[in-house]
Amino acid sequence: MDHFEYRDGELHAGDVPLAAIAAEHGTPLYVYSAATFLDHFHRLNAAFAPLNPLICFSVKSCSNVHILRLLAERGAGMDVVSGGELLRARLAGVPAERTVFAGVGKTDDEIHQALAGEPDRADPGPIGLFNIESEPEYEVVAAAARAMGVSARAALRVNPGISAGGHAYVRTGHAETKFGVELPHAEALFEKFAREKHLRLCAIHLHIGSSITDPAPYAQAVSKALALIDRLERKGVRIEALDLGGGFGADYTSGAAPPAAVFAAAIVPLLESRARAGLRIILEPGRSIAANAGVLLTRVLFVKHTGPRKFVVCDAGMNTLLRPSLYNAFHFIWPVSVSPQHVPPSRRESLDLPGLEPCDVVGPVCETGDFLARDRTLPLLARGDLLAVFAAGAYGMSMASRYNSHPLPAEVLVEGALARLIRRRESPDDLVAHER
Ligand code: LLP
Repeated sequence: MDHFEYRDGELHAGDVPLAAIAAEHGTPLYVYSAATFLDHFHRLNAAFAPLNPLICFSVKSCSNVHILRLLAERGAGMDVVSGGELLRARLAGVPAERTVFAGVGKTDDEIHQALAGEPDRADPGPIGLFNIESEPEYEVVAAAARAMGVSARAALRVNPGISAGGHAYVRTGHAETKFGVELPHAEALFEKFAREKHLRLCAIHLHIGSSITDPAPYAQAVSKALALIDRLERKGVRIEALDLGGGFGADYTSGAAPPAAVFAAAIVPLLESRARAGLRIILEPGRSIAANAGVLLTRVLFVKHTGPRKFVVCDAGMNTLLRPSLYNAFHFIWPVSVSPQHVPPSRRESLDLPGLEPCDVVGPVCETGDFLARDRTLPLLARGDLLAVFAAGAYGMSMASRYNSHPLPAEVLVEGALARLIRRRESPDDLVAHER
């Protein structure tokens, strides 16, 4: 699952005690484990090795440049959805051809940025693949490429009509979402644009949803894509790459997500011979690599009782980690320092340990919807206690906001015995810098 574990009642990231990191860098603080990132990345690589896939880490899940570099140095490409993410990928040293650019709302500037590449680099060409979401978008990107005299490649995001994933907000593969093009329409677009010189439509992109724990919908989606590839082949249109998107679940509770090998067992047999025959397979995992690789550390400010309820008020809230408020998402929360009887045997919603009390863990933001956990049983807490919010590495910091004018938290990456500050805490001055 990850490299965060209790030793003598003290939560550690690898060999480094988290209390010491919080003492040095303050809270709220995101702490990442390099070993966990690499472990998940290597497991995915190993599971899908027969397909020799390009694994494009989904930058939106955890966008810090140092983390992108950690993965890029091991051969990862990047899945980006904005000019900002493209800049991050470039700063992390990711070659243009290992970058795929998705997103339903690409602006002219972003399209230009992705087509132009960086003239001062060894690989000044356009990004590897534009993932196109509609015919109008295709026309705009193709016109830009033509005007710039550039030849680029594109995938068409096909909506396979399959509903999969966690919360309704993160399901994307069913009919009537804003994403992609319906299958019947897709075929016509490939026929129309497959031979376009400046933007060759030569790949299929799928992304059916996020937080998926069942391999079956992937198998269904892949089968539909393969049938489309065969139909197109008969019409003389060759598909060069199949991008399966992301979506593999993570262990928010112990054992919640099947390992990468389970997904691979359903997907690899369908694609093995195609990959051998030259079909390039791309994956875009975010959560399954990043979620368990990060914890959020937060300090208890006050413990207050209102009627029958106990509120543990912390310095992190929906501004720091939005997932509980937005998706009612479960994150295991536990004190960083505990007595021997309170070392958690697993990370589940209710643990059968002595002396626990129910409480709501809430943040400082002026909204009733600002909580990290509701009705959670925890050991008794007091002002100054340090809590760890687990599996916060994906869609944690990347969705954090400055709501209520709280500066963004800092980020620390633990590599072996070293805890390195990879993003400094914002100051109150940073908050108003653009308003001066
Ligand atoms: N590719 C595309 C086209 C995507 O839209 C996404 C995620 C991914 C890849 C990566 O998916 P993953 O492997 O991380 O599941 N904020 C939500 C998740 C939104 C996912 C958006 N798209 C959350 O906190 O659960």
